[in-house]
Amino acid sequence: MASSTGAVFEAADPELAAGVRRGLEDVENRLREVASSRHPLLDESARHLVLAGGKRFRPLLALLSAHLGDADAPGVVDAAVVVELTHLATLYHDDVMDEADVRRGAASANARWSNTVAILTGDFLFAHASDLTAGLGTEATRLQARTFARLVEGQIAETAGPGDGDPVEHHLQVVADKTGSLIATSARLGALMAGAPTADVDTVARFGEVIGIAFQLSDDLIDVLSETGDSGKTPGTDLREGIRTLPVLLVLASEDDASAHLRELLQADLTDDARLAEALALLRAHPAMSEARGRLRDRVEQARAIAAELPEGPTRDALASLTDYVLARTG
Ligand code: IPE
Ligand code: IPE
Ligand code: MG
Ligand code: MG
Repeated sequence: MASSTGAVFEAADPELAAGVRRGLEDVENRLREVASSRHPLLDESARHLVLAGGKRFRPLLALLSAHLGDADAPGVVDAAVVVELTHLATLYHDDVMDEADVRRGAASANARWSNTVAILTGDFLFAHASDLTAGLGTEATRLQARTFARLVEGQIAETAGPGDGDPVEHHLQVVADKTGSLIATSARLGALMAGAPTADVDTVARFGEVIGIAFQLSDDLIDVLSETGDSGKTPGTDLREGIRTLPVLLVLASEDDASAHLRELLQADLTDDARLAEALALLRAHPAMSEARGRLRDRVEQARAIAAELPEGPTRDALASLTDYVLARTG
């Protein structure tokens, strides 16, 4: 099971860390409450992935961003719950789309029950996210709705493919829309509910967008690099499903003879286990991996530069240490 990111900046400032830790405990309790239903099947399916864990990266970022204002303000914990619920709902749906069997080290809901149960459970969690957001006011409600719309646009753009456009540019836009959007909103909503100065709210949202893109790029590298079980997901899922992430797109754009066989494999049907294993092994050893990691590093540096615009202090330092974490995930 993927573990929580809460310990990332523990050493930096014990007081800040303790505040965030308390917030995360409140978030856990709220999530368990919200994910319950009077219908036993929905109750079980909704709690399934809440209890399976996950890194809680989005609530962590919301709580941390709230320290740019009054982190104890009413609405801060709910903001963190809203972004995790929205994320969680997308995971139920995403695993249907990607035909993924494993999530957070547990069976995905579609594998454990069915696509129907997974879709309905995702809808149920979205509904609860909307309900909770309504209590945070009109601005929060609009923000959550628009973020959700943007995330769906990212998912559909990934499904539709680049068409005649540049595949790498298209992919980076998909990543920004499907992942950067909600991570940006996590930061914005936390800071907004805490009554942080408007300039800081905007800065931390820009930080969230860029670190969100980096987070997805690192996740896509992990899909290629990890051994079974390490990531709480099945390695090679993107390749098997024909989802072309950055290293794959870079190989496909290459023209050297040494990569010809891998290019051929990457365009073939990779639902065959032996072919998938061969493609994974060749991709791991290909220079496109370090090129993709270079792109990830660029985003991490960009996020650090944005964090530097925030007022000096432990919150800014903790946000900066989150960027180290995102880069370190890929080794
Ligand atoms: C998975 O998100 C989907 C991506 C955007 C990469 P996380 O990696 O945050 O998943 P959990 O919440 O820890 O399970
Ligand atoms: C996760 O996307 C879902 C969203 C970001 C909406 P992916 O399909 O890239 O992530 P994993 O690898 O399944 O977690
Ligand atoms: Mg997926
Ligand atoms: Mg997907």
